[in-house]
Amino acid sequence: VIKTYDHILVDLPKPGVGLITFNRPRALNALSTALFLELNDALQTLDNDDDTNAIVLTGSEKAFAAGADIKEMKDLSFSKAYNTNFITSWSSTIPNIRKPIIAAVNGHALGGGCELALMADILYCSSSATFGQPEIKLGIIPGAGGSQRLTALIGKSRAMELILTGKTFSGTEAGQWGVAAQVFDSAEECVRGALETAGKIAGMSRLSVRAAKEVVNKSQDTGLREGLDYERKVFHGLFGSKDQKIGEPMSLEIISNALHLL
Ligand code: HXC
Repeated sequence: VIKTYDHILVDLPKPGVGLITFNRPRALNALSTALFLELNDALQTLDNDDDTNAIVLTGSEKAFAAGADIKEMKDLSFSKAYNTNFITSWSSTIPNIRKPIIAAVNGHALGGGCELALMADILYCSSSATFGQPEIKLGIIPGAGGSQRLTALIGKSRAMELILTGKTFSGTEAGQWGVAAQVFDSAEECVRGALETAGKIAGMSRLSVRAAKEVVNKSQDTGLREGLDYERKVFHGLFGSKDQKIGEPMSLEIISNALHLL
């Protein structure tokens, strides 16, 4: 399954886990079109690979990704951006990947890099990571979901302050504000933590993992009533699965242990 790319490294570091590392160190992993086409290809390949159950996305200690490639955007006109549907190719691929994606964010995660991290299903970072949407300083605005996903996560007032001034926030703040599920002391621990969690998820029923990701994501773009109906339907459906039958003895054991505690 592993292919060789120019701007990313793809590895299978433990059973069931795919690791994608951005590898454009001289441009702080700026997200050029070439990088993104490779990322899309790698994600789709891992998503279709029967031996991969979870994916970790990371950069270097210095930069997760310092944003869309400014050099590519410099001469972009409105008509070209509109005609080529600029950004759409990458901002619409990740949300369609069905296997869980964990972002391990170290260093700069700015602009499109921050938006990319926010697209992951679980975000881990180191305390010294730097997040931000500095597009305002370039005379543009976040274009890959930042205004929507960041606002949903941290609330309107904080999101406005960040997006209107371009100021950054730290990994520690990302943890305090609920952007990151876990904050680590170092880049190495962050990547290790992400791989451990990915390994744990990879050991679960693949069908349940897929269904769980689907229903949690549904909560992000639907009202509560519709979301609950959707969850119940998928929940009912899982009782038709072999995984649920295999899981049954364990569930009974958990129930009987719980009863003993009463
Ligand atoms: C292209 C970039 C880049 C970027 C850094 N580089 N960010 N190249 N696109 N987004 C390049 C620099 O040109 C430089 O290359 C090399 O990486 C190292 O950068 P330095 O600035 O020398 O490093 P440092 O002093 O450590 O500063 C790091 C930094 C700064 C604070 C992250 O590079 C920076 O502010 N970068 C821009 C961040 C940004 O504005 N991102 C948002 C982009 S807009 P050379 O060849 O000169 O050595 C965006 C829009 C998204 O993302 C819209 C939807 C996707």
